[in-house]
Amino acid sequence: MKLFFQPLKNKVDWTQWYQAQAYDQCFILVDSNTEKHCLPVLRKLFPADACILKVKAGESSKEIGTAKLLWERLLKKGASRRSVLICVGGGVICDLGGFVAASYFRGIDCVYFPTTLMAQVDAAYGGKTAINSNGIKNSIGFFKSPIAIGVEQKLLKTLAAEQLLDAWAEIVKHALLQGPEVWKLLPKSNHTSSTILEKWVKLSVEFKEMICEQDPFEKDIRKALNLGHTIGHAIETVRKKQSHGRCVFEGLWIETLLSMMLCHLDIAEGNKILAYLSKFGPPPSFTQAEIKAILKHLQYDKKNSHGQVKFILLSAIGDVNIGVPCSEAEVKDVLYCFCK
Ligand SMILES: NC(=O)c1ccc[n+]([C@@H]2O[C@H](COP(=O)([O-])OP(=O)(O)OC[C@H]3O[C@@H](n4cnc5c(N)ncnc54)[C@H](O)[C@@H]3O)[C@@H](O)[C@H]2O)c1
Ligand SMILES: [Zn+2]
Repeated sequence: MKLFFQPLKNKVDWTQWYQAQAYDQCFILVDSNTEKHCLPVLRKLFPADACILKVKAGESSKEIGTAKLLWERLLKKGASRRSVLICVGGGVICDLGGFVAASYFRGIDCVYFPTTLMAQVDAAYGGKTAINSNGIKNSIGFFKSPIAIGVEQKLLKTLAAEQLLDAWAEIVKHALLQGPEVWKLLPKSNHTSSTILEKWVKLSVEFKEMICEQDPFEKDIRKALNLGHTIGHAIETVRKKQSHGRCVFEGLWIETLLSMMLCHLDIAEGNKILAYLSKFGPPPSFTQAEIKAILKHLQYDKKNSHGQVKFILLSAIGDVNIGVPCSEAEVKDVLYCFCK
């Protein structure tokens, strides 16, 4: 996978690379927001006759109906195995476009230009493509990395402040996994400064790429990247409108407490993590019905086997335990700490 940092600044690198690929057609996947805010910024990087494929903005596009429409449009426009699909969008467009490209004619080249901080620090790397099915997130998909990724910070300017803040959940997760050296840099970081952002985007990309290279199919160490996500995905399924990043923040709250309960995470260290998480928003707050639904959903989590709920927990910052079994009663106890 070829990584282009700030391709607008280093346009020659990108242009030379793109021309060397000699694609017969270029398709650009956008959603209604990225068509408006991001495509004009990047337009000069792409061929003038590229065909624009537009889908509705938001998670609801990550489904088989939209994928089918895209396959049909590619067929109608004569896309061949030598065509390329360039995804200009957040995690939804990368996951969906990656899925469509991986399956069209058994796989055509795909390039990501991630346009949200969430996608620039996490979703664009590691080759997980997916759509949702039967209300279960990312249940259908492939491991297939894009041939190239272009990370352009200018694209983040049009994001709402809340979107930028929510994506820090993944940066915080990466720092917790990387260990005390990286973790201790976090509290000093002003998460709205663009220089700081550039630094953390780079740190996150390098870390995620390093883990995914070691374990591309998530058999072992890559599972660590699911820290905060076992509960986070369950919350996301229950609260359909809450952003992925916000759900991961809440997942990190719950899983930090579980780490203190079950993995001997030092109480003082655990409290420091919780204090840092509280800079990004209030603690989670669930109704009884939500707790019931979260517990029910956990049984469907694809990381579980034989009905056991297994978590990624910390015994210290940087010391991760993969597949820690937690009983429903233990999880319930922690969730009830946050009951309205
Ligand atoms: N494949 C992976 O490894 C991985 C990792 C993390 C998250 N994800 C997936 O990513 C998705 C969440 O990603 P997301 O938060 O980027 O969601 P998203 O793609 O839906 O983007 C959020 C919103 O921002 C808009 N938007 C995007 N870029 C913009 C810009 N520059 N300016 C203004 N508006 C813009 C979008 O149109 C959308 O309305 C989830 O589906 C999640 O499952 C995947
Ligand atoms: Zn995530």
